[in-house]
Parts: sequence; structure tokens; C-alpha cells
Amino acid sequence: MKISVFGLGYVGCVSAACLAASGHEVVGVDVNPLKVDLVTRGQAPVVEERIGELISEVVRGGALRATTDVSAAVAATEISLVCVGTPSAPNGSLSTVYLERVSEQIGRALTTKAERHTVVFRSTMLPGTCADLLVPILERASGLGAGHDFGVAVNPEFLREGTSVRDFFEPPKTVIGEFDTESGDVVAALYAGLPGQVFRVPVAVAEMTKYADNAFHGLKIGFANEIGAICRALGLDSHRVMDVFLADSKLNISAAYLRPGFAFGGSCLPKDLRGLVYAARRADVSVPLLAHVLPSNEDHLRRAFELVAAAGSRKIGLFGLSFKPGTDDLRESPLVELAERLLGKGYDLRIYDANVSLSRLMGANRDYIESRLPHLGDLLTHSAADVLAHADVCVVGCKDPAVLGALDDAGDRTIIDLVRLPDADARRAHPGYVGLGW
Ligand SMILES: NC(=O)c1ccc[n+]([C@@H]2O[C@H](COP(=O)([O-])OP(=O)(O)OC[C@H]3O[C@@H](n4cnc5c(N)ncnc54)[C@H](O)[C@@H]3O)[C@@H](O)[C@H]2O)c1
Repeated sequence: MKISVFGLGYVGCVSAACLAASGHEVVGVDVNPLKVDLVTRGQAPVVEERIGELISEVVRGGALRATTDVSAAVAATEISLVCVGTPSAPNGSLSTVYLERVSEQIGRALTTKAERHTVVFRSTMLPGTCADLLVPILERASGLGAGHDFGVAVNPEFLREGTSVRDFFEPPKTVIGEFDTESGDVVAALYAGLPGQVFRVPVAVAEMTKYADNAFHGLKIGFANEIGAICRALGLDSHRVMDVFLADSKLNISAAYLRPGFAFGGSCLPKDLRGLVYAARRADVSVPLLAHVLPSNEDHLRRAFELVAAAGSRKIGLFGLSFKPGTDDLRESPLVELAERLLGKGYDLRIYDANVSLSRLMGANRDYIESRLPHLGDLLTHSAADVLAHADVCVVGCKDPAVLGALDDAGDRTIIDLVRLPDADARRAHPGYVGLGW
């Protein structure tokens, strides 16, 4: 393919050189003439493993050249990869000025092109930036329509500085946010033959994946370092602790606990987080990340309460009460907390949980529920259908088969889904269905 790459920084340079090395014909474009001169002379404008040799090789072989001339670059290519910077603005927001400028320039260059051109954004940008900001600029500047006259896609980049050339040829995954299928096909063809799963998703989903990744990476490093700080204060070697932690690929280094759902609870996580944060405080170790896990969980519970309040009816059916499926443990269950708040605000509540029967509750579990929901006996029903019959608003906190069956007859009732029901994809299209985090 004939490809123009806009922005010859870390991302652009590596993409341009690697695509040229893969057999494509590439022209790099930058506003900075020094970078263009360096590439033209076969030198890399950035320091990266293998990039020096690679640029020298592909420039010598004629597969890569560089220019400051946007129109010529767009005219000579079928696809433009936009890799300009998106730095933080002074207030912390994402600056899109370079993206806006380059979209304007490419849009103007499109006016002189007869063939369909595809504009692919590789820069990191917040969901909505492409469709709401950049596509209108491209359309205004070109007088053409995105999706039919020219293609648009978002293709975030997951390379690590330092090993980015290696990462390009062995990507962890390829994400293609396609404005239309034809645009997605063009990007998919660009990376054909590379390993890793390919995800073709809506444009805004592609934009968001990059933030989910980077937020998680930062979170992991902060977590490890806080555990390290606590270990040091307690005279422990954190690396011995994390060796054990990392060996657990069932619960720790796994997909477990990473699907958005309802708040956590139960007899262990809240208690142990409180205990650990208290121990850190006693040792004068600041652990802001760990200290904010319970407040974050509390905010999530509040979001669920606010969704119920916004539904506008006082007749509520709560499906599920224990802290997780397959148990009748009610201790620190977020559903008990939600029920308590709803009752406190005067909502008319009925509850169904296949695993919870008042007569079978005992010990600490019984004491807990008697102190939190003393009238549980009046609220708890024996069938999901009874709860449905009572409710205008169904709050779904479990995926018990009896509950799924009852919800089939929910009609036009509001469904507030806290657990991502199996048919959530289809339900999302219907008014009256509200997902807690989707
Ligand atoms: N650096 C990384 O490892 C990395 C990894 C993944 C994603 N990203 C994202 O990729 C994007 C680029 O990052 P980077 O580190 O390569 O940035 P960078 O600052 O190194 O390079 C950006 C380049 O764009 C050029 N530029 C600005 N406006 C231009 C225009 N109108 N036309 C042509 N060139 C123009 C600049 O002169 C500069 O050379 C950012 O959104 C970043 O968040 C970076």
C-alpha cells in the first residue's frame, strides 16, 4: 500500500519504518523540518532499539521518504496514519490542537483527490474525539462525506517506547475502530500477517481501549509500589510477597474481577482492605490508592441507588440479596446496603434471592441481617414472579435462572441491571433497560 504517516515522533517514526520494512511505500510528514531532514538522510529522529538501522535501510531502499508537503503526501498515497502528539493541556485535559490542525490539512488535500482515501488516527484520544471533532473538520475542509467519499478509522497503538520496533512486529493485539466496514478492511489489510488478536469495534470503543490499558498499567504499578511500601515498613521483602501473588493465574493475573458489575462486598474484601489500610496508617505509610478502594466501591453503590431514584417509581423489586451468587452470606453484601438505603428513603421494596431463606440464616449472618434489615421477613418473597408482580422497577443483582425467567415477562417495566444480564446486548437497545456500567 501507499501510506502517508503524519507526525514523525516515537509512534509515527516506528510505524513508518516498520510499514516500509513490511513492503509498503511510505512517506513521512512532519511540520518540523529538522525531523524531515533527518529521515531524508536515513537517520532516526528518535532513540529506540533498532530504529536507526531500520530507517537507514528503508530510506536507502526507497521504501520511506519524508516531506513537509501535506498535499503531495496525501495525493501520492491511499491511506494516512495520523500519529501527531496529544499532550496534556495545562488544566489536565487532552490537547487536540495538533489533531485538529492535521485533520484540516488532510481535509483540504482531499479536495484534489479523485480516489477514495482513508484517514486513520493512531494518536491517543478520548472517546468521541474522532466522530465529534475530527470527522466534522475533515468533512468541512474537504466538502466530502466520511464513510462514503473517504474512509475514517481509529487504530490506537500499543507499542512500548524502548521496544517499539519489536512490539510492532509482535503486537499484543490490533484494535481497529471502523467508521465503516470498508475503512476497517483497509486498516486490517495493513497489518495482515502480524500475530495477535484483531478487534474490529466501533470508533469510540477503540478510542477507549487505549485509556483502559494505560489506566490499568498505572494502577498496577501504583498497587505494586504501595504493597512494597507497606512490606518495607513491616520489614518484609515485597518481592517474595509478589512472587506468590504473581504465581496465582487463577484469581490474580487473570481475567477475574475485571468485568464491570456491581460493588464488591462480603465478609473478606471490605474487612481486609480496612485492616491493611489501617496497618499502613499506623506505620506512617501513605497508600492513597489502597485507601481509596473502599470509597470507590461506595461511590459505585451510590450510582446504583441514584439509578433507582431516577427511575421515578417507589415500587421496587430487588432480585438478589447475598453478596455473590451461590451463597446465602449477607454480611457486607452491597445488595443489603442498597436495600437498606431504599427502605430508608421510603421505597416500597420486595426481595427475591433463591439462596436466602430467613428460617435457614444463622450465626453471624443472621445477626448481621437482623441489625441491618430487621423486617426482612416482610420483604422477602418465595418467588421471583411475586417480586415482578409488585415492581415497577426491577433491580437485578443476580443471574439466577428463576430471575432470568421472571424478567422475560417484565414487559415495559424499568430494568436496572447491576450484573450484566446474559441478554444485555439485546436489552440495551430497549428504552427502560439501564445498565450500571455499560
Ligand atoms: N510514545 C509512545 O510510546 C506512545 C505509545 C502509544 C500511543 N502514543 C500516542 O501517540 C501519539 C503520538 O505520540 P508520540 O510520542 O509519537 O508524539 P511526539 O510528540 O514524539 O511526536 C508527534 C510529532 O507530530 C508532529 N506534528 C505535530 N503537528 C503536525 C502536523 N500538523 N503535521 C505533521 N506532523 C505534526 C510533531 O512535530 C512531532 O514530531 C500521542 O497521542 C500519544 O499519546 C504514544
